[in-house]
Amino acid sequence: MIENYKEAFEKSRLAGAIAAGALDEVAKIIKHGIKTETIDRLCYEYINDHGAYSAPLFYRGFPKSCCTSANHVVCHGIPSEKVLKDGDIINVDVTALKDGWHGDTSRTFEIGEVSVKAKKLVKTTYEAMMEAIQIIKEDICLGDIGATIQNYVETRGFSVVQDFCGHGVGRSFHETPNILHYGEKGSGEKIKAGMIFTIEPMINAGNYETKTLSDGWTAVTKDKSLSAQFEHTVGVTKDGYEIFTLPKKKI
Ligand code: MF3
Ligand code: CO
Ligand code: CO
Repeated sequence: MIENYKEAFEKSRLAGAIAAGALDEVAKIIKHGIKTETIDRLCYEYINDHGAYSAPLFYRGFPKSCCTSANHVVCHGIPSEKVLKDGDIINVDVTALKDGWHGDTSRTFEIGEVSVKAKKLVKTTYEAMMEAIQIIKEDICLGDIGATIQNYVETRGFSVVQDFCGHGVGRSFHETPNILHYGEKGSGEKIKAGMIFTIEPMINAGNYETKTLSDGWTAVTKDKSLSAQFEHTVGVTKDGYEIFTLPKKKI
């Protein structure tokens, strides 16, 4: 696969565009009064209508087509009758499986006017992901990615979740290597052209620690502080990278 990755990149581009397209649709309808299961329905239908399958659905028993993680929920929130309200922040995470390849992406949306702190958290999380993506090219180390995110986030007073990480992605939803969002510059495996993985930092306003609720999925901050996340699927090239999950319109 790594030897000749043209086909892998073409397939990832397609799956990534569908996943990003689903989030573009979510962006149009998400607002005060919407139920998270309405977002799930929209993602399910958009992905199906584009000849793809929602990879989260029944993945290890997950019951829905996307994850909806609001406020102090770090990740893997299950869509339900929960109604969004002004001031909430909510991450929507979708993964499209198209022609045997996965595209995995998430964005955190702001509902109405959110607090100054929530706004800063969401902005910092997005920027930390983009800062890390921008250093990607063959022969940098995985630790360079983690260190870039950790440094960006901690100098702004927030913390990096350690219990969840990015991952290789392609024919499987989750593959090696693990992409940690913290670490030491110059440490870890060197990345190679042709590798495809996600960068998906989860950033907390308070302490980095998480716990999982009794539904077996929903991860929350232990201290109930706000948490935000963004995710892109990225391919490594000799002298840079390609993002497969860019929105149609710049966010
Ligand atoms: N999309 C998530 C990720 O970024 C994984 C969700 S698994 C699920 O890796 F089962 F919760 F959907
Ligand atoms: Co992912
Ligand atoms: Co995801």
